[in-house]
Amino acid sequence: MKPKSKILIIAGSDSSGGAGVQADIKTVTALGGYAMTALTAVTSQNTTGVSSVIAVPPREVEKQILFTSKDIKPDGIKIGMLHSTEVILSVIKALNKIKTKKIILDPVMVAKGGFKLINDKAIKTLKKRLIRKVHLITPNIPEAEVLTNVNINNLDDMIRAAKILLRLGVKNILIKGGHSKKKSMKDVFLNKKELKIFTNKRIKTKNTHGTGCTLSSAITTFYACGKTLNKSCELAIKYVNQSIRSNLNYGKGHGPINHLSCIKINRKFK
Ligand SMILES: Nc1ncnc2c1ncn2[C@@H]1O[C@H](COP(=O)(O)OP(=O)(O)OP(=O)(O)O)[C@@H](O)[C@H]1O
Ligand SMILES: [Mg+2]
Repeated sequence: MKPKSKILIIAGSDSSGGAGVQADIKTVTALGGYAMTALTAVTSQNTTGVSSVIAVPPREVEKQILFTSKDIKPDGIKIGMLHSTEVILSVIKALNKIKTKKIILDPVMVAKGGFKLINDKAIKTLKKRLIRKVHLITPNIPEAEVLTNVNINNLDDMIRAAKILLRLGVKNILIKGGHSKKKSMKDVFLNKKELKIFTNKRIKTKNTHGTGCTLSSAITTFYACGKTLNKSCELAIKYVNQSIRSNLNYGKGHGPINHLSCIKINRKFK
């Protein structure tokens, strides 16, 4: 098959393969896209936690974006881990030059095990300079709380936070409900025209490492293929749900989801 869209992933590496650039590449590929990358950081981690983070120099992040895109123009861009103000500014500079419109930002702040992946100054820069520039942001509940100063305990709080982000100039918002304790899982989508709540049953498992990275890459892939943003969110949530359900159960901590659960291997390669 020929890939349907070309996606540039700007994010950090997760050596355990469940989140970060590795999850992004698997997702884009599994959904029929062509994945390119600009690496922002290298993390040593496994399913039990992050042991170290090494930053890629911001100038090199910018170079990866520009040099790659000038040869193969991306139809969509997914942005994940941006740990410092300097790297955020480099990414903004590069994005201004390449002018791809379909940009999705997953404002990654803390890894599943609790390790902080962005410094406080960078959170301010992200809020002031980047969130307005992208087409959609996909914070989880703790990230939405940090960005809006709203304490989120229920669906109404999620909607209130999304409205604040809209007022800050964000075009489209999807607040993910993975961190709520409720049995039914709600993701809130909001823009100036519509409010949509995606509801799913919570799957009982500890193996949800990389759900957020996977979701934003899936949305980017569907959106870059020409689907509406709303439909892209709906399909991406379904894809993550199926990937959680097909439990791999690898590792001793929060194990990875199965990005390949929707793939059938051609007979001649079996
Ligand atoms: N146990 C679960 N059962 C069903 N859906 C889930 C579960 N956990 C997360 N999800 C879904 O996965 C998607 C990602 O949400 P989540 O809040 O986990 O993102 P995240 O915190 O950014 O993930 P990550 O830890 O990878 O950064 C959402 O659509 C959410 O509803
Ligand atoms: Mg996340």
